[in-house]
Amino acid sequence: MFYFGADYYPEHWPEERWPEDARLMAEAGFNVVRLAEFAWSKMEPEEGRYDFGWLDRAIDVLSDHGIRVVLGTPTASPPPWLMTRSEGLFIVRQDGRRATYGNRREYCPNNPLYYGDSRHIVTEMASRYGDHPAVIAWQIDNEFGASCYCSICRASFQNWLRERYGTLDVLNAAWGTAFWSHVYTHWSQIPVPVITGRTPNPGLDLDYRRFMSDTYVRYQQQQLDILRALCPDQPITHNLMGFRYDGLNYFDLARPLDFVVWDNYPVLWFDAEADPAAVALGHDAMRGLKQQNFWVMEQQSGAGGWEAMGPMPCPGQLRLWTYQAIAHGADAIVYFRWRTARYGTEQYWHGILDHHGQPGRRYEEVKAVGAELARIGDEVLAAQSHSQVAMVLSYDSRFSLQGQPGHSDFSYPALFGSYYEALHRRNISVDIVPPSADLGAYRLVLAPALHVVGQAEADNLRTYVAGGGTLLLTARSGVKDEANAIVNMRLPGLLADICGVEVADYALLPGDTAVPLRIELPGTAESEQGGEAQLWSDVLAPTTAQTVGRYAGETYAGEPAITLNTANGGRTLYVGTIGDSALHDTVVGWLVDAADVRASAPTPAGVEATERWKDDRRLLFLMNHTAEAQTVKVPRPATELITGEQVGGELTLAPYGVAVVRGA
Ligand code: GAL
Repeated sequence: MFYFGADYYPEHWPEERWPEDARLMAEAGFNVVRLAEFAWSKMEPEEGRYDFGWLDRAIDVLSDHGIRVVLGTPTASPPPWLMTRSEGLFIVRQDGRRATYGNRREYCPNNPLYYGDSRHIVTEMASRYGDHPAVIAWQIDNEFGASCYCSICRASFQNWLRERYGTLDVLNAAWGTAFWSHVYTHWSQIPVPVITGRTPNPGLDLDYRRFMSDTYVRYQQQQLDILRALCPDQPITHNLMGFRYDGLNYFDLARPLDFVVWDNYPVLWFDAEADPAAVALGHDAMRGLKQQNFWVMEQQSGAGGWEAMGPMPCPGQLRLWTYQAIAHGADAIVYFRWRTARYGTEQYWHGILDHHGQPGRRYEEVKAVGAELARIGDEVLAAQSHSQVAMVLSYDSRFSLQGQPGHSDFSYPALFGSYYEALHRRNISVDIVPPSADLGAYRLVLAPALHVVGQAEADNLRTYVAGGGTLLLTARSGVKDEANAIVNMRLPGLLADICGVEVADYALLPGDTAVPLRIELPGTAESEQGGEAQLWSDVLAPTTAQTVGRYAGETYAGEPAITLNTANGGRTLYVGTIGDSALHDTVVGWLVDAADVRASAPTPAGVEATERWKDDRRLLFLMNHTAEAQTVKVPRPATELITGEQVGGELTLAPYGVAVVRGA
């Protein structure tokens, strides 16, 4: 069944209202809600005194209207009676100050007391609802993240390091603690990277980010074990925050879960408007975590904001974003939130209903989508994305570059996003994969700024290219080893032979400096080869590669900037600069032609085409992200699923309109 619904907080509203909510939900085609992920105070008002009566009744009201339930464990926001028991329960932030009560995500994720409290509430919930017929799945906690720097975390970090390095000699060597006389002679001397002035030892910095990520994986595992034992038939998930979030290694966090769900907010308070490519990247990154379809557990349904509000979605955008999620692999859509809260931090975070609870414009739009999905949901459910292109997402590289970006304007996610956007603009389906992924099935692999590289990762790329693959690498790749030390080799270090090139010299390009490039990619007209060097300039010395781009100005005028190696069985393009989006577009254009990558369909600018496959039947999603009507060519007569009409020749999409074409 295609699940469609909302995040519902019955504890915020009088019980007399619940039947009306359920009636309106059923009318909108809802068959699922998420409940309880912030309701600890209501479920355990005092330590050891549980009250699930209200939740039973809420589930009953919903079930009577054919609505099933995903239950959230409430550990993201513990009640005051719990947190006031010990100061040590509170997180210590990086400035060394302990949080106090008043928001959420304030708990220390290594605190043994908190482990105990979490175990109790989750066990109670799981025992009560483990075989409840209306409960179809569990969500653990809510949006893990937030690093803690307390003394418990410090001791736990020291143990984590002991397991990773075995001896202090190994750790001291890996981190290079001879620098500034940081040699540790006892594990207990090792600090956590609170703000001490400036950059900590990079080895310590990267390891602390890894440790915090592992901390949440471990914290999640306790709840997983309880739920698995007591609710063997209900699948378990956790709601992640897409590509935007960079505090945890999401590949690790997703591995033990049954399925991935994520929270998709195309326009937050700081966004002027939605960026369709960025949203698409969020979906693809989440599909990539387990290489399987996902749910959207919080799909934006109104303007967001805590202190200040962001843009209100325009008429048609909620529907458009819903279909965009489905187009990228969502098998369920749950909107955040059913009704806008009158109280609390999120008074301005708008849901489907406004504060007054009467149906309005957004309700009607969601209801219309509900009616459409009631017809076509089964057609799209479980359809697969088949990508010929992969992008390698390295959390080690991302973490390392958070600590030391090398250039103050350099951002790993921005570079990654810009290359992704060049693919998205061409309607090319992309899988987001970890550096260890088997790449053999892809025609083209992009691994921008693969900064931290171990031998196994380098070997994986080498094998891929040796098998005939086409690979893109860029400046700032192969720079660091797994301990975040700079390699003792010419760059790009372990990747140099794959690229057939060595970096002879490099320099940062300060501020807005943009150096023109003379690009000579084989088989492409000069007029199609735009782009400038920005932020960084490698001067390349080819070994087996040929030069296909040179700096055309400034200090390195005439020197090689881009190389192509075909001596390894495949092709490796090395771009020795970070560059601008025009450069990324040129490079991607050449790569997709060279690797013979297929696009879903040609479309005008602002119209996205994405495909999913059910066996050998193609579903082509056409999505107009602009406020004007757009016309798209449909090559063969086919069926438009939402209207059920035959289409052929041309198809007109209304502003923010959508079509799902089967068989074109
Ligand atoms: C999510 C969170 C929700 C709600 C929403 C809007 O990040 O999971 O609980 O806070 O954002 O702020």
